[in-house]
Parts: sequence; C-alpha cells; structure tokens
Amino acid sequence: MKRRILMATVVASISMMSFASFAAETGETIFKAKCSSCHPDGGNIIKPGESIKGIKDTKKITKKIRKGGGGMPAFDAKTVSDADAKSVADYIVKTFKK
Ligand code: HEC
Repeated sequence: MKRRILMATVVASISMMSFASFAAETGETIFKAKCSSCHPDGGNIIKPGESIKGIKDTKKITKKIRKGGGGMPAFDAKTVSDADAKSVADYIVKTFKK
C-alpha cells in the first residue's frame, strides 16, 4: 500500500515537471512568433517609451493581448488562446525584468 502511494507521487511529480517545462517553452515560442517583432528583448520599436520590461501583473499583459491599441494589434482567442496568452504573460514577467 505504501509503495503504491510512493509510485503515485513519483508519477505526479514527473508529469508536473514536464508540464512546467512545456509551458515555459510555449510562452517563449509564442513570444518569438507573435510579439518579438515589435518587442525585441522586451523593448518596443514603435513606442520606445512603452517597453514591456518590469511588468509584474500577468493580467495586464493578457488584457493588452486581447485589446491591443495604441499601435499594438489585438489578438483574438483564435490567434492566441487563453492558455497561450497566459504562457506568454508568464514568460514576459519572468524574462524581462527591469
Ligand atoms: C505591431 C507591433 C506589436 C506587436 C506585434 C505586439 N505589440 Fe505589444 N505593444 C505595441 C505597441 C505600439 C505598444 C504601446 C501601446 C500603447 O501605447 O498603448 C504595445 C504595448 C504592449 C504592452 C503594454 C505595456 C505597458 O506597460 O502598458 C504589453 C503588455 C504588450 N504590448 C505585450 C505584447 C504581447 C504579449 C505581444 C504578442 C502577443 C505583443 N505585445 C505584440 C506593439 C506591438
């Protein structure tokens, strides 16, 4: 019985680990494909004052992805799914610190 619990724990942690690395990769991949043309290295080539560095609120990012504006196109759920928007937001917060 004890052994079975141990096995379940091992399986659960392995799948959690692979999920975490998968999510991180996806955020980076989406950023490079859809955002980095205007935000290379977290900057902003259209409005240099509006860089995406140092943002800590992922909701602010996912909102901006959906709404766009001020020279940024809006991305609908067909272009960037909710899960992908969340991954990109996590990637930005983690990667582009001030
Ligand atoms: C065509 C160029 C372009 C693309 C592509 C683009 N952005 Fe932007 N982004 C901008 C511009 C211009 C602004 C400034 C908008 C403003 O002044 O309101 C901006 C602003 C932002 C902001 C708000 C920064 C702040 O501090 O308020 C976030 C967050 C952001 N972009 C994230 C993204 C993400 C994530 C993607 C990819 C899914 C993306 N952008 C793709 C041009 C772009």
